[in-house]
Order: sequence, then structure tokens, then C-alpha cells
Amino acid sequence: MALKVVGAGLGRTGTLSLKLALEHVGFGPCYHMLEITSAPEVRFPQWMQVIQGSPDWDAIFDGFASTVDYPTANYWRELTDYYPDSKVILYTRDAEGWFDSVTRTIFSPDSLVKTSEAPLGEFFRQAVTRDFHDRIGDRAFMVDYYRRREEEVIASLPPERLLVHRLGDGWEPLCAFLGVPVPDEPYPVVNTTEDMSTMTAARKEDPAPDAVRNGAQVYIDAMRNKAFGG
Ligand code: A3P
Repeated sequence: MALKVVGAGLGRTGTLSLKLALEHVGFGPCYHMLEITSAPEVRFPQWMQVIQGSPDWDAIFDGFASTVDYPTANYWRELTDYYPDSKVILYTRDAEGWFDSVTRTIFSPDSLVKTSEAPLGEFFRQAVTRDFHDRIGDRAFMVDYYRRREEEVIASLPPERLLVHRLGDGWEPLCAFLGVPVPDEPYPVVNTTEDMSTMTAARKEDPAPDAVRNGAQVYIDAMRNKAFGG
């Protein structure tokens, strides 16, 4: 199945809410970083191939209808070329708010220590933080990077192929863009800093690979339950 939706927004711009929203309106399963964490034996080597310059996109996205979040957002050019009929969603928020959020969560000092360890280190440096690795704590650089990158996405794609979806925009613009009815349920609000702290605390208690893998799936299910009920 070819990807129908490619997400171009960076992590901490509402990607998990968007994943659940896309799945809820018929564009799932939707690939997210948590898919890699929940099946690292299969997915991690696939991304190492991407880093080495020989991506097998069909294998990576086998069975998926859409993708959001890191690392795929860093490959929006390659993916929009490879899937020419896909629509693109640039989910976004205020650049300063993005920097505050990443600094509290995925790029916090604690998190950076964990993600620098082998075998994750190479993947994280090359596929996630590659554009700013050595400047990750530099607010001015990061905010400027974020804004320039968005300008580049917007300038590169035909307007009819792209939806710029800001945190808080909710269902209406998304559903109009995808040509589907607006659901009755409120748009998801998940993976907040607080939600993530709870997951991180659970990982600290049991950092074994199996616990992390199962934890990713448990977290997705918990966030789906938070969004749409059981
Ligand atoms: P904060 O860290 O500021 O709480 P992601 O899922 O890409 O990691 O993004 C999570 C961030 O998006 C969190 O930001 C979360 O609160 C915010 N978010 C998710 N869905 C949202 C929504 N529908 N409206 C507003 N903010 C939302």
C-alpha cells in the first residue's frame, strides 16, 4: 500500500495526536517513532539502511497508510517524491513553544544521554538530530532552524498538496483536506509533557528491552484510550 499521507512536522508538534486522528478517520495505520520503539528488531535495521543511503521505503511502510513524527519528518522530500500521490501535513506550533517542549522531553539532558548510547546513538544522530546535533541546546539557532525548515516545506510543495495544521486547529481543516467527515469526538490531545513524564518514569523503573518495547505499545493504547475512550 502506498502512503497516502506524509507528515512533515517535527517531533513535539502534536504528532501522536495526529497519528490517532488519522487512524480514527481512516488513514491508518499511521507510522510514528513509537512504531520503531515497539518493534526495534525489525525497524531499527531498516532505518540504518536509510542512513547508509539505501532506503527500502516499501518495506518500512509496509501495511501503513500514513506517517508522522521523527524520523520520517526528516525525509519529507524523499517520501513526497517516492509517493507522488501522497498528501502532506505540516503540523506545527509556535517555534519557541516547540523548543521549550523538546527541551523538556525528547531532547532533555536525560533523554539525550539515553539516545546517545549504542546502538541507538548512530540512528538518533543521523536520522533525528542530524540538522542541529551540536546546537541542540541553542535556543536562537533551534528556533531559527525550525522556522526556516517550515518555510522550505511550504515553498517546495504545491499548496493543494499541503495542509499546514497548527496545534489547536482540530478536526475541521484536517477532515476538509482529507475529504472525510468530521468525527463527533473531540480532536485528541495526547503525549503532553505530563503524559511523557509518566512513561519515562515507568521506563526508569524497568529499562529492560522487553519492557521498553511493550511499554511503547502500552503507551499508544493508553493515549488512544485518553483520546477516544476504551
Ligand atoms: P507540550 O510538550 O508543550 O505539552 P508530539 O506528540 O509530537 O510529541 O507532541 C506533543 C506536544 O503537542 C505536547 O506539547 C502536547 O501537549 C501537544 N499537543 C498534542 N495534541 C495537542 C492538541 N490537540 N492541542 C494542543 N496541543 C497538543
